[in-house]
Amino acid sequence: MTKFFKTLAISTALLAASGAVFAESHAAMSPEDAVAARQTHMKLLGQNMGVLGGMAQGKMDYDAAAAQAAADALVENAMIADMAKFPEGSDSDSIATSRALPAIWTNFDDFTAKAEACTVAATGMQAAAGQGLEAVQAAMGALGGSCGSCHETYRKPK
Ligand code: HEC
Repeated sequence: MTKFFKTLAISTALLAASGAVFAESHAAMSPEDAVAARQTHMKLLGQNMGVLGGMAQGKMDYDAAAAQAAADALVENAMIADMAKFPEGSDSDSIATSRALPAIWTNFDDFTAKAEACTVAATGMQAAAGQGLEAVQAAMGALGGSCGSCHETYRKPK
């Protein structure tokens, strides 16, 4: 909870939208609200990844402050404390808008481990982000891989 509000403080209207959803249903998030909240959260991860990835690939000039801000936001928003956004009954078979595969709930320990790995990789990026383009590029493999390995296993393809 605290983590959620901290997250809210550093982010934009995007996250404020999910904040409203979250605040409404506080103690027990309905599966529908959980899907909306985590998708908004994931979009925010995607935005910050977009900044770092854009720099790493040379599509955007490296800017130490912007890279650091994106990496800090990734760490703040990393998924470790957010398993509450994955309640039972919020899988893609139960909720039409969800792409969270039912396998999450039969392998919840593995799913949680992948979320933790993402947090570790984001922390690595946080340490690297201000150190120059090459440092960002070096940290990108582990970070991108940590997003991808969870998506490959647990996110339904479009
Ligand atoms: C532990 C597993 C896991 C990790 C780690 C993870 N994701 Fe996801 N992500 C998911 C799942 C599951 C969904 C689908 C959620 C749903 O639709 O209910 C998703 C959805 C998304 C979406 C689509 C959101 C939308 O518009 O619906 C984006 C963008 C995204 N993730 C980005 C990222 C980025 C960037 C990272 C790494 C920094 C990351 N994710 C790490 C599991 C993960």
